[in-house]
Order: sequence, then structure tokens, then C-alpha cells
Amino acid sequence: MLNDVQAYIDSNEAVFIEDLKTILKFPSVSADSKFKQDLLNCADWLKKHFEDIGLTAEIIPTAGHPIVYAEWLGAPGAPTVLVYGHYDVQPPDPLNLWTTPAFEPTIRDGKIYARGATDDKGQFLTHVKAVQSWMKVHGKLPVNVKFVIEGEEEVGSNNLDLFLEANKKKVACDVAVISDCPQYGPGLPAITYGLRGMYACEVTIHGPNRDLHSGAYGGSVANPATYLAHMLASLHDKQGKIQVAGFYDGVIPLDDDERTAYAALPFDEKTYLNDIGLKVGFGEPGFTTNERRWARPTIEINGLYSGYIGEGPKTIVPSYAFAKITCRLVPGQTPHEVGRSLETHLRQQCSIAIRMDFKEYHGCEASLVDRHSPYMAAAKKAIKTGFGKEPLLIREGGTIPVVKTLKDMLGVDTLLLGWGLNSDCLHSPNEHFTLADYQRGTKASAALFTELAK
Ligand code: BES
Ligand code: MN
Ligand code: MN
Repeated sequence: MLNDVQAYIDSNEAVFIEDLKTILKFPSVSADSKFKQDLLNCADWLKKHFEDIGLTAEIIPTAGHPIVYAEWLGAPGAPTVLVYGHYDVQPPDPLNLWTTPAFEPTIRDGKIYARGATDDKGQFLTHVKAVQSWMKVHGKLPVNVKFVIEGEEEVGSNNLDLFLEANKKKVACDVAVISDCPQYGPGLPAITYGLRGMYACEVTIHGPNRDLHSGAYGGSVANPATYLAHMLASLHDKQGKIQVAGFYDGVIPLDDDERTAYAALPFDEKTYLNDIGLKVGFGEPGFTTNERRWARPTIEINGLYSGYIGEGPKTIVPSYAFAKITCRLVPGQTPHEVGRSLETHLRQQCSIAIRMDFKEYHGCEASLVDRHSPYMAAAKKAIKTGFGKEPLLIREGGTIPVVKTLKDMLGVDTLLLGWGLNSDCLHSPNEHFTLADYQRGTKASAALFTELAK
């Protein structure tokens, strides 16, 4: 049965690429309210698309951008698979660095370029295309499927939890599947069994009530930019070890099995650095690059602003300075505790001569998935079918908040089956997705439904 489905996927390659182009044209940027209608249009298209391929679908409003829910439950007694994805995308800025416009999908060298190509429209669409292929060829699937495609992942998934909490029955399932992460490398498919969590905040340092003449006042008042720089510099030592009291409390160390397994993965530091234009790596002493990015917590300054940054000099003491900060969390840490240690540290480093405001955004814990479940075994076989290779077992450093929620709220494990690559420029200009991976991912998904039914 599966062979006919795979043949259908092969012969419909061009049609499936057209569908991908269609969804990539919606500028569904969740962070920026001027795109609100575009998110609605994208959700609308998706709902109709689900209906066209034989599912029931609905648009579920939230306090923010809507969720698209779709299901096919025609396989009583068979397992139920919940596919999660997100149709929202990151802002495309800086626009001038795109070779072709972010929302005019363009194919070059076997890759499709557009914001959302790999994160996450191209990746989640593989499961839609797999379902479509099963429905077209056999009029049914070997398992029940539910889709939850949200519009707020890139801004922290705040309303998704409320939806899941209020609709536990509707979203009940045996296993969840998410394709919103990378393979280990080109030609190296992987299953991700761990993701880092997140804590996000913003700190503002308020000084004088206006920018001051730095000659008239400089030296007699605290400069917010200088103080912010002190405070931020105190977060790490020169080697990159975090200096915030309590920050590492509770961190569950990597077990020996994992360290051995990571050390055995193919990894070329030079190639890794070359791709991002660097010659020398950096990070917490005592850990390898993969350990640092998968299993160690971080504090990153994401953005920093104060004073005058236009052309030419300007002699002022700025009135304020601010920074956006995010932490990546690992198992054993909670956003609340990390937030308190960070805030306490910053307040201690601040001067009584100025005022510090601390604003919290979103947070979620890290997630780890059972590596030895029967679902894992099914996913390994499916990837072998779709990609022609056994997948590697890896963790990833990024965050997908729903994974932890699904575990805590529904007791469900997630299969993180990434078809993308970290080099796909997600969140950067010229985001792209390899079309061969789009097709291989679709085939792996089609095979996964067969394997999970066993
Ligand atoms: N698809 C990414 C998550 C990801 C990236 C997983 C790389 C593994 C490797 C997702 O869309 C994302 O960007 N998540 C945000 C979450 C945040 C806004 C809560 C992230 O990781 O910064
Ligand atoms: Mn994503
Ligand atoms: Mn993202």
C-alpha cells in the first residue's frame, strides 16, 4: 500500500512544490501587528487546503493569531497522531540582504528561497502532503491524524497552551510529530530527542529625564549606557562561563552515554565555523561544541540600544539604555528561577544613581523525549524509507514550547523529525529549504503513518 503512496508523491512533486509556493507567499509575520490580516489569510488558505484533501478543518480564534485545526479520524482502533506546526514566520528584516524578496518564493539550485521555507511552512507541509497522498491513493490512512498549526510560535506560543488546556479531548492523541528542526547535516537525517527551553526579558536603565549635554553634565551623573555595559559584561567571565549566582542550580548534567554518543557524531569544527564566517569557536570551558549548543544553558544579549547612533558625533549623556536578553534553558532549570537569578544579579550590578526596569516576556522549560519508545523505533524506520539512511540521534539547541506542554498536559511524547538544516538561514535573510528534503520528508511522513499503525 505504501509503495503506491510513494509513487504518488514522486509523480506529484511539481504540484506539491506549487502548494509550497502558495503558502510561502503569505507574509505571516506574527511579531508585527501590521501583518495581522496576512496571518488570517494564511490560516484561511490552510483550512481550505485541509478540506480539499479530505479532512475536516476549522479556524480557532485566540487572543492573538488563530490556530488551524484539522482532523481525519477514520481509522478506529488505530493510533492517533497529532501533527504540530506553525504558519507564522519571523520578520524578514533586513530586507536589503535578500537576493530575491522574502515573500516571492524563488527556486535556485534545488532550493526554495522565502521566509518560512524551512521554519516552518515547508517542513510541516510535508505531513499535509503525506496525508493528501494517502487520501488520494487509498481514500484513507492507516492511523488517525490531527493537525494543530498555530500562528504564534515565533512569539512564544502564549495562547496555544490555553487552547490545548481547554480542548484536551479534541487534541487527545497517542504521539505527536513535529518537523520544525534540522537534520544533523546535509545527507545526515536525525531524530531530535531534546530541545532547550527559553526565558526572555528586557532591561531598561533610566538616567536623566532627557538626553543631556555631555559637557554641561557629563561626569556628574551616571551614564545609563555605561552602566548597562557594566551590568551586561558581568553576566559572563571572559571564557563564557555564566557568573549569575544560582543560574546553573539544578542543571541536570549530560550522562556519559550521551557524551560518548555526541563524541562519535561526525563533526568538523572548521566547516561549522566556516559556514558562519568565523575562524575560532568560543564557549563554556569543559564542553564540546555540540554539548555547548544542545545541553548547556546560555544567556544571550539579543539587542542593545542607547543614545545616538546616526551619522557623525553627538555629545550627550543618553537618558536611557536598554537590552533584550534571552536565556536557553536545559533540563532541571525553570524559566521562573532563571528569571529571578538574572533579575537579582542585574539589580545588584546596577547603581543607586539610576533606575532599572525589568520586563519579562515568555518562557518555557527544556524538553527531553524517551529515546527507547516504540514510537522512536517507528520513526527510525520511516526515515530510513524516506531518506535512504538510518537517522542519527541528536539534541538541538532551539526551542519549541509546545513539546513540554504536550508532555505535561497530555502525557504525550513528541517525535521531533527535522527535515531542515541549520544552514537553511532560518531567522536570517535568504531563508531556504532543499526541495529534495521536502520530498524525502513527505515520503518519510507517509511511511511513518504505516509504521505507527503497527
Ligand atoms: N523552529 C525553531 C526552533 C528550532 C530551531 C529548533 C533550531 C531546533 C533548532 C522555532 O521556530 C523557533 O525559532 N523557536 C524560537 C522559540 C521562541 C520564540 C520561544 C527559538 O528557538 O528562538
Ligand atoms: Mn519553527
Ligand atoms: Mn523559528
